[in-house]
Amino acid sequence: MVKLPSILLYFLCILVFIHLCKCQASSQGKKWELNGRTLERKGKLGGHGHPYRRFNAPNFFQLRRGDLHINLTNWGATLVSLTLPDAKGHLADVLLGYDYLASYMKASSSRPYFGALVGRVANRIKDGEFTINGKTYQLPKNDGNNTLHGGLTGFDNVLWKVREQRSGRKPSIKFTYHSFDGEQGFPGDLDVSATYTISGDMELRLDLEAVPRNKATAVSLINHAYWNLAGESSGRDILGNSVTIWASHYTPTDSQLIPTGQILPVNGTPLDLTKEVIVGSRINKLNSSEKPPGFDHNYVLDGPKLKNGLRPGARMKDHWSSRVMEVWTTAPGMQFYTSNNLKDTVGKGGVIYKAHSAFCFESQAFPNAVNQPKFPSVIVKPGQIYKHTMLFKFSVEK
Ligand SMILES: *[C@@H]1O[C@H](CO)[C@@H](O)[C@H](O)[C@H]1NC(C)=O
Ligand SMILES: *[C@@H]1O[C@H](CO)[C@@H](O)[C@H](O)[C@H]1NC(C)=O
Ligand SMILES: *[C@@H]1O[C@H](CO)[C@@H](O)[C@H](O)[C@H]1NC(C)=O
Repeated sequence: MVKLPSILLYFLCILVFIHLCKCQASSQGKKWELNGRTLERKGKLGGHGHPYRRFNAPNFFQLRRGDLHINLTNWGATLVSLTLPDAKGHLADVLLGYDYLASYMKASSSRPYFGALVGRVANRIKDGEFTINGKTYQLPKNDGNNTLHGGLTGFDNVLWKVREQRSGRKPSIKFTYHSFDGEQGFPGDLDVSATYTISGDMELRLDLEAVPRNKATAVSLINHAYWNLAGESSGRDILGNSVTIWASHYTPTDSQLIPTGQILPVNGTPLDLTKEVIVGSRINKLNSSEKPPGFDHNYVLDGPKLKNGLRPGARMKDHWSSRVMEVWTTAPGMQFYTSNNLKDTVGKGGVIYKAHSAFCFESQAFPNAVNQPKFPSVIVKPGQIYKHTMLFKFSVEK
């Protein structure tokens, strides 16, 4: 009388186990890695198996190598945290962000885009309008009269699929997103992927790709991480950091931050960061239309290009922790933004983020390039592939 139910329970467990294995074995066309095992499967997504739930509902994922720990979410293909040592070996999370998925999923139009993958076209498009092959496309205006960061519900605010997660010496995770024809006003179906890889001891690589399926469209994807190398909860701002940007020119803008179309030298202006400069020493000299003032400028990168197309973009050093970050990129521009618009944002662990709590190095196409024939083109046609790679190299320097 006592044994029978437990035997039944035992068989039930085995059945459930077999069922779970079946789901794992039939929910994905490519390789999955779960608990260190690589699962390969043919066929379509099952829809109710364990991997489907884990990978295709909003969730957190982790990549680790040595002391470099990176958390991400498939909501917006977002970088959630990045923990690394300082000169004394103390670990700190150097990314601003939130504790809960729900905070990332809030669609507020004034969201800061913490760590997110931004698209279909990052930065601003004047009047939310552009023309390709004689046809004019109208986008939602979410920044005065302009479109910012892909519209009201850009790629930062949608659920991506997890295609592949690998561990080992180069742990990586690949997110994909299918953007449909007409989404946020943009033409054509577009398949997008974002692969984050720990590519070296203290190095994060991000490979972005987009493939237009049926119409020419505009594409410019960025990562919008907010960095504070002293640690996001250190209570320190970034004004004492030293910055270098490998750019002898920039794209001046009007008061709405739309480029005028000129490409001007930084030489002799407070924007000249070609030699290492303390961020705070320049902030009040800028003609900043933002309050409080700060950098929010697109630099035209011209550092030496390597064979793989990467060139140095920008470098930041935090003197307090001795942490250094260098960003290399294949993109022509870099927005240097000193988080001027952060205002009492409640972040991780209840920490309050303020203006100048962080900086962003957004490697990108030039803002409003889709309306500016003199700028490098952002139009991608069927048969072409959009690619953008960036490398974040971390070190300590006393
Ligand atoms: C990253 O995720 C892991 C696993 O969920 C968690 O233990 C860790 O606290 C997270 N790190 C940060 C800095 O949030
Ligand atoms: C938007 O454009 C209209 C018409 O040109 C103008 O009156 C208005 O001031 C503009 N708004 C902003 C925020 O620039
Ligand atoms: C700032 O504004 C002044 C006066 O309008 C102008 O002469 C100067 O070139 C501007 N500097 C930059 C860096 O835009």
